[in-house]
Amino acid sequence: MSSGWWRWYEAVTSSITKVKLVNTYNIVKSLHIISIVAWMAGMLYLPRLFVYHAQSAPSSDARSMFATMEGRLLRTIMLPAMLASWGFGLWLATLGGAWAQGWLHAKLASVVVLSGLHGFFAKEARKLAKGDKPRSPRFYRIINEVPTVILVVIVFLVVLKPF
Ligand code: HEM
Repeated sequence: MSSGWWRWYEAVTSSITKVKLVNTYNIVKSLHIISIVAWMAGMLYLPRLFVYHAQSAPSSDARSMFATMEGRLLRTIMLPAMLASWGFGLWLATLGGAWAQGWLHAKLASVVVLSGLHGFFAKEARKLAKGDKPRSPRFYRIINEVPTVILVVIVFLVVLKPF
C-alpha cells in the first residue's frame, strides 16, 4: 500500500475511533445526567412526603398511604437512579481519565454525603412504615433543603472544574 493511501486510511480510522469515543463519552454522560435528575427528584420529593406524613393523624388512612408512597419512591425510582448515577459517573471518570482531578475528588466527597443522606431517608421511611412516631414537620422541612445545597455544589464543581 502506498504511504499516501496508508496515511489516509490511518486518518480515517483514527477519526472514526475518535468519533466513537466521543459518542460513547457523550452517551454515557447523557445517561449520567438522566439518572442524576431522577435521583435528585426523589431526594427533593421524599422529605416533602415526610412533612405530610408527620402532619397526618396517627393510624389514619392518609398516614399509611404516605408510607406506601415513600416506600415505592425509594424502591422503584431513587435506589435504581442512585446506582445508575454512580455507575455512569465512575464510567465517565474512567473514560475521561479524570481520577487525578481535584474537582472530581470534591465532587465524589459531596456525592458520598448525598448517598449518606439517601441512606438516612431510607431508614426513616422504614421506621415510619413500621408505624414509629414521625419527627416534627419542621425537622423534615429543614432537611429538605440539604439535597438542594449539595446539588448546587456538585453542579458548580463539575461544570466549572475550579481546581
Ligand atoms: C456518583 C458519583 C459521580 C461521579 C463519579 C461523577 C462523575 C462525573 C464525571 C467524570 C463527569 C464528566 C465531566 C465532564 O465531562 O465534564 C460528570 C458529569 C456530570 N455530573 Fe457527575 N458524577 C457523579 C454523580 C453526580 C451527581 C450526584 C450529580 C448531581 C447531583 C452529578 C452531576 C453531573 C453533571 C450535571 C454533569 C455534566 C457536566 C457537564 O457536562 O459539564 N454527578 N460526572
